[in-house]
Amino acid sequence: MKPVNIGLLGLGTVGGGTVKVLKRNADEITRRAGREIHIGVVAARDLNRSRICDTAGIRLTTDPYEVVTDPGVDIVVELIGGLEPAKDLVMRALDAGKHVVTANKMLIALHGNEIFAKASEKGRMVAFEAAVAGGIPIIKALREGLSGNKVEWLAGIINGTCNFILTEMREKGRDFRDVLKEAQALGYAESDPTFDVEGIDAAHKLTILASIAFGIPLQFDRVWTEGISSVTSLDVAYAETLGYRIKLLGIARRAEKGIELRVHPTLIPERRLIANVNGVMNAVLVKGDAVGPTLFYGAGAGAEPTASSVVADIIDVVRTLTSDPENRVPHLAFQPEAISDIPI
Ligand code: HSE
Repeated sequence: MKPVNIGLLGLGTVGGGTVKVLKRNADEITRRAGREIHIGVVAARDLNRSRICDTAGIRLTTDPYEVVTDPGVDIVVELIGGLEPAKDLVMRALDAGKHVVTANKMLIALHGNEIFAKASEKGRMVAFEAAVAGGIPIIKALREGLSGNKVEWLAGIINGTCNFILTEMREKGRDFRDVLKEAQALGYAESDPTFDVEGIDAAHKLTILASIAFGIPLQFDRVWTEGISSVTSLDVAYAETLGYRIKLLGIARRAEKGIELRVHPTLIPERRLIANVNGVMNAVLVKGDAVGPTLFYGAGAGAEPTASSVVADIIDVVRTLTSDPENRVPHLAFQPEAISDIPI
């Protein structure tokens, strides 16, 4: 069978990590996908920047539209982030008959309904495991491993930058701004870190998780969102004295009048597992009616952990491509379930 051709948009932290993992694990990946995966073309803003990956043998361009319109590309992997031009590129890729893999949580949370409708119309796949909780395969866990359950609630640490900041403030008494700068240097933070510290990134991810867990449309504007920018070193120290840790949680649960969605700093007793999730690590607790409570843990940001999810999605798309199109799983199976107002 001929190789599948990937067109990559973006060669930053996650793009570089994806190229590295695809190259390093090429044998395993080919075996699991059933076909060889070839990186045909990569669009990067600056071709002369030093990279974490080796780009030898890969065609590079500064024009992302060249990638989405290239007739040789089978799967477009969108790793540039932000809303535009990412949305336009994804829609064009679908129009051009390509499948899409994306790590773009904001794009899926705000425009996923429209993107999935286009993908269904065109009979193409859109996969977005890397959009939530970095390397934790939480989307696949909810869709596959837990699909026999009625989810009662989920709660998670789903922003690595905030967890890194809160951990460093507690363990080392460091200053909020200093740690944020380090998170930026390590490639954890969003290009606009306000999205991290104001809880917006976590709200994007919670929107996606809730949509899959409860079968509801993506409704970002219904998430109560509060970040950690007003949490002080004193708050962190007092919490510790009282036997608590402060964590930024995303919480979705069935309430009397629908699903309640909220992101805010939360006091958690220090003996709880989730209170001991430190640094850039993420963790998502999911309570299903059959399975009971489950906990998923792993790196929530960074080049290779996020690439792990991107590559898994690429393999998934390739496997599905080779299987019977009639049996493809739809993107989201929506139920007309309401989202509740937050009783605050
Ligand atoms: N800025 C995000 C975080 C990156 O810190 O979790 C991963 O989505």
